[in-house]
Parts: sequence; C-alpha cells; structure tokens
Amino acid sequence: MQYESVKVIHQDEVHGGYRLLWLNAPGIAPHVEPGQFVHIRVPHMEASVLRRPFSVYKADGSVLQILYKGVGKGTRTMTYLRPGDTLSLIGPLGTGFPALSPGNAPVLVAGGYGMAALYLLARSMPVQGIAFFGGQTAPDILCVDEFEALGWEVRIATEDGSLGEQGLVTDVIDAWWTERKDDASPVEVYACGPNAMLHAVARRAMDRDWRTWVSVDRNMGCGVGACLTCVLRVRDESGGWEWKRSCTEGPVFECREICWDLEK
Ligand SMILES: Cc1cc2nc3c(=O)[nH]c(=O)nc-3n(C[C@H](O)[C@H](O)[C@H](O)COP(=O)(O)OP(=O)(O)OC[C@H]3O[C@@H](n4cnc5c(N)ncnc54)[C@H](O)[C@@H]3O)c2cc1C
Ligand code: FES
Repeated sequence: MQYESVKVIHQDEVHGGYRLLWLNAPGIAPHVEPGQFVHIRVPHMEASVLRRPFSVYKADGSVLQILYKGVGKGTRTMTYLRPGDTLSLIGPLGTGFPALSPGNAPVLVAGGYGMAALYLLARSMPVQGIAFFGGQTAPDILCVDEFEALGWEVRIATEDGSLGEQGLVTDVIDAWWTERKDDASPVEVYACGPNAMLHAVARRAMDRDWRTWVSVDRNMGCGVGACLTCVLRVRDESGGWEWKRSCTEGPVFECREICWDLEK
C-alpha cells in the first residue's frame, strides 16, 4: 500500500452517467491485484475530508483506469477533474479476489460498477467462462465489448428489457443453470454489485453448492482498518459472529462467511 500524489491523464464520458478516469500512478498501478481498490481524496472539497473508494478497472504499466458514476458530492466533483490535475491516492487496498480453483469453471456476476471491478479478474483468469451483467436499463450495462474481446461469453439482463433478457440478472443465471443441468463440473462464482444482488447470488450459491466470492460495497472512512466504518458481520468458528473490516479483511468474502440475515 502506498500514498501517492497522482496526475489525471484525462477522463471521458462513457454512458449511463459513467465516466472513465485515467490516472498516472506509477507507485500504485503495477501492484494492483484483481478486486483491489484505491481510495481517492477528491480535490477541491476542503469541507469533506473523507476519501472515496473505487475499484481499479484497468492497470497497465503506470496507468490506472477507474470507471465511476457521479452519485453524490464527491463523485460529482470528480467529473470536473482535468488533465494535469493532481489528486491523492492510497492503494492498492483490500484483499482482492482469490485465484480460481483448478478444474472449476469461472462465472462472473456484475451489476453497476461491478462490471469494471471484475475486468482485471476476467483478464487474469487462466480460462474464460461466462459473465452475467444486470442493470435497470441498457445504458447501465458496461464493458461488454471488453469482456467479449477477452473471450468471455456475456449474458445480459435489464429490468426494462432494453438490452438482453428482461428481468433480473439472477433470472438469466437461473435459466443458464437449468440449461447446464447435466453438466456436473463445478463452478466458481465471482460477484460484485449492489448488496441485494450479492445476497440473491449467495442464496443460489448455498443451494447449488457453488464456491462464491462476493465483493461488498460499504461506506469507507479511512480505507486502512482504523475507523471501523466499513464493518460487517461474518460467521466465526464457534457458530456465532464477529465484525470484519471490509477495507482490510475484504471487500471480497466467500459468501458463506457473511451473516446475510443480520445485514441491512
Ligand atoms: C470497494 C469499493 C469499490 C468501489 N468501486 C467503485 C467503482 O469502481 N465505481 C463507482 O462508481 N463506484 C464505486 N464504489 C462506490 C463509490 O465509492 C461511491 O459511489 C462513492 O464513495 C460515493 O461518493 P460521493 O461523495 O459521490 O457520495 P456521497 O453519498 O455524497 O458521499 C459518500 C461519502 O459519505 C461517507 N458516508 C456516507 N454514509 C456514511 C456513514 N453512514 N458513515 C460514514 N461515512 C459515510 C462515505 O464514506 C463517503 O465518504 C465503490 C465502493 C467500494 C466500497
Ligand atoms: S474504512 Fe476505516 S476501518 Fe474500514
């Protein structure tokens, strides 16, 4: 983990309110593992000192890319960043996604920025598999060409039916699971998106015996384990539960660890 003062290279509008931010971060970019995140101090926000966490979408050489949406004060301020602006970054942070177990078929499930958070994982996998992307409407679906270019099959669900199948991403997953019912080979699932989606995937994982890694989205104050803003309840060895910090002990957890019934 490093603190680095990094320069904005540029940023582009993508679609669905998302923007792609390119940063020159030679001290951080080469060390990023799939599923890790960076914590950004948004400049020009003197009244708001908390950093904002973002998954690393791409890391190539000294360049980091972040795909983000303007949803609140910090992210909307980020939309004004210009080439040459400087910002303070801490990273890479978090545990990242574990490697695929030998013999397992990889399955990715993403909603919202989860499509960006899973890209480095898709790129580093020893084998390609199937990726399920869900959103409310077509502009919420990101990075499809990038995943297909890596050799992944992408299946899409939108709630309004404007792209892919109409419905939730779990509807498309259920249809695929029915399709492959005679295939007994084990699958390993990696998911990132809204917590309700992660919970729905976790329920299926427990019923169907999938090993499943979920990257949870928590508010984060410090990002380095000191403030406890980001805790969630996980099962402990005695059958009870304990708090874990999603910034340092996560954000990736095997879905059986999480006490879903105690989560909001
Ligand atoms: C690991 C991780 C990876 C992420 N990756 C991405 C990504 O790749 N792309 C993307 O678009 N989004 C991503 N997000 C979500 C992104 O961090 C938020 O959208 C962003 O922080 C919102 O900031 P804001 O100032 O615009 O929103 P606001 O809602 O205005 O402010 C959020 C700020 O308030 C603080 N806050 C809010 N509620 C509380 C509370 N109860 N206690 C303490 N502090 C609080 C937060 O810590 C944060 O500093 C990620 C989140 C996590 C946890
Ligand atoms: S964000 Fe401070 S402990 Fe996790």
